[in-house]
Amino acid sequence: MKIGVLASGSGSNLQSIIDSCNSGYIPNSSVELVISNNEKAFALTRASNHGIKSNYIHPPDFIKYKKGMNIDEIMNDPLRREYDKLLVENFSNVNVEVICLAGYMLFVTPALLDKFTIINIHPSILPSFKGLHGIRDAINYGANVVGCTTHFVDNDEDTGPIILQATTPIFTGMSTEEISLLNLKREHIIFAETLRLYCKNLLRVKGRQVEIIWDKEHFEYQNKLLYLWKSDIDDYNNRR
Ligand code: GRF
Repeated sequence: MKIGVLASGSGSNLQSIIDSCNSGYIPNSSVELVISNNEKAFALTRASNHGIKSNYIHPPDFIKYKKGMNIDEIMNDPLRREYDKLLVENFSNVNVEVICLAGYMLFVTPALLDKFTIINIHPSILPSFKGLHGIRDAINYGANVVGCTTHFVDNDEDTGPIILQATTPIFTGMSTEEISLLNLKREHIIFAETLRLYCKNLLRVKGRQVEIIWDKEHFEYQNKLLYLWKSDIDDYNNRR
C-alpha cells in the first residue's frame, strides 16, 4: 500500500508509520511522499532521513486558521480548494492509495477528500474535545483520562467514522506536556494498527460504524495497550 502523509510538526506519528512499514507490521507498504505546510516541520527531516520524498508546499496566507470562519466557509473557500488540488496532483504523481493526517494543522477540503481515503489522528476520545487543543480541553473540563482517536476524514471537524481509540491515565501532579507525552505513545500505536487493519482489509465501514475484523495481531495490539497502562502505572508508582 502506498501511503501519503500530511504533517505540520514534529512528525512522531509519521515516524511510527515509517517504522511500522519498514518492519513489515503494515505489510507491503511504504510512505511514498510527505508534504508539509510548514517549512520547519521536523516531519520533513524525518522523511529525508529515510530517503522518502518530501515537499514543503506553502499555502496562501489566508489559509491560516481563522477564528470565526465556519466549517462550510472553510470547505468552500476557493483558495483552500486550489491548495488541496496541488496536494492531489503531488500525491497522484506517486500513486498514493491512502493519505494520513499526522499532526496536520489545516482542514482538508472536498478537493482532496473526493480523491483519496484520508485518515486522521486526534488527541482526544472523540466525539469529546474536538478541535485544536484536545488534551488541554479534556484536562480543563475535569476528565480523568485523556486519549486519542483515529478516524476517516469527512468534510467536518473531527467527525468522520471512528476507527480506533485508546485512553491515557492522568496522574496527580502531571503537567499537560507530560500527559501529552504519555498520550503520544498511544497515538503511535493506534495509528500503526489503523493502517495495518486498513491495508489488510480488516475494516468494514457501515455508515458511522467501522467494524473491525479481529485477527491475531489485533488481539496482540489490544494487549499491548493494556500493558502500556500497567507500565505507566508502575513507572508513576516507582517515581513517587
Ligand atoms: C499529535 O498529538 C496529533 O494528534 C496532533 O498533533 C500532534 C502531532 O504530533 N494532531 P506529531 O507531529 O506526530 O509528533
